[in-house]
Amino acid sequence: MRHLINPLDFTKEETDKVIKLAEDISQNIEKYSHTCAGKILATLFYEPSTRTRLSFESAMMRLGGQVLGFSSAQSSSASKGESVADTARMISCYADIVAMRHYKEGAPAVAAKFASVPIVNAGDGGHQHPTQTLTDLLTIQKGRGSIDGITIGLCGDLRFGRTVHSLIQSLVRYQNVRFIFISPKELTLPDYIIEEVVKPSGFPYREVSSMEDVIGELDVLYMTRVQKERFFNEEDYVRLKDSYILDHKKMALGKDSLMVMHPLPRVNEIAVEVDKDPRAVYFKQAQNGVYVRMALILSLLGIENEILEDSLC
Ligand code: NCD
Repeated sequence: MRHLINPLDFTKEETDKVIKLAEDISQNIEKYSHTCAGKILATLFYEPSTRTRLSFESAMMRLGGQVLGFSSAQSSSASKGESVADTARMISCYADIVAMRHYKEGAPAVAAKFASVPIVNAGDGGHQHPTQTLTDLLTIQKGRGSIDGITIGLCGDLRFGRTVHSLIQSLVRYQNVRFIFISPKELTLPDYIIEEVVKPSGFPYREVSSMEDVIGELDVLYMTRVQKERFFNEEDYVRLKDSYILDHKKMALGKDSLMVMHPLPRVNEIAVEVDKDPRAVYFKQAQNGVYVRMALILSLLGIENEILEDSLC
């Protein structure tokens, strides 16, 4: 049984195949509209979500399948004390594939041990978010034609931002990536990401606190929200929340080919005035989330081979 809990659960070749399939889906969506007829996706969301849950649901519906689930822990038996393990056993009787978001790091991995259907981690605490990474990779691939050779600046809450952790884990499998980590010192990357992922890659990296000093070097600027819900006290959040605000003035320092990405939701970190700049691709990125989740569902359900072969003939 295949699951996607961590981006590394798929090899680089498998990841590239999902991205390629997602590219085809984005151009020929009609072709896929009955591929999951009779299949059910369950979305088990113990934490708030707009894009991830709805894009998963939209993806399954666009594949001709159906969807059930819950959007908060309060409306599930978790509020009565049911364990993730028991919920995973139950849901395996009701659905063919599951997307789970949980506030506890490791919860989807526990579910995967007890489920008899594929489990997809839709975000676990401050840990990982592998389907956002697929979305991000597809966005870079479509925008630049290649992921190799990019200089990427990751900016904001690098400590608690799970999208950043997963993206870095995936990017080190490409060629000649340069990393610039932009954050206040309280929100730098966790040590395990630097020691176990970034350093072993041998790719150049810098940790800086000023966005203005480095924006001119970047091909991709990946902005993130300061993760209010992971802070232990309100005071620290209030002090750090507006550490970076990307506006016209800072955009003027960026290359013409810069891609500004953000997993969304944004709070203050990108001024609304930037939305009209053609280099701002975060809404396209959200759209890509549907295509990539369609490709992932097909792939985990084992439907992808037939379709991909057909689409390549
Ligand atoms: C991100 C998440 O949930 O980690 N959002 C998303 O899935 N698109 C980023 C965030 O909440 O800041």
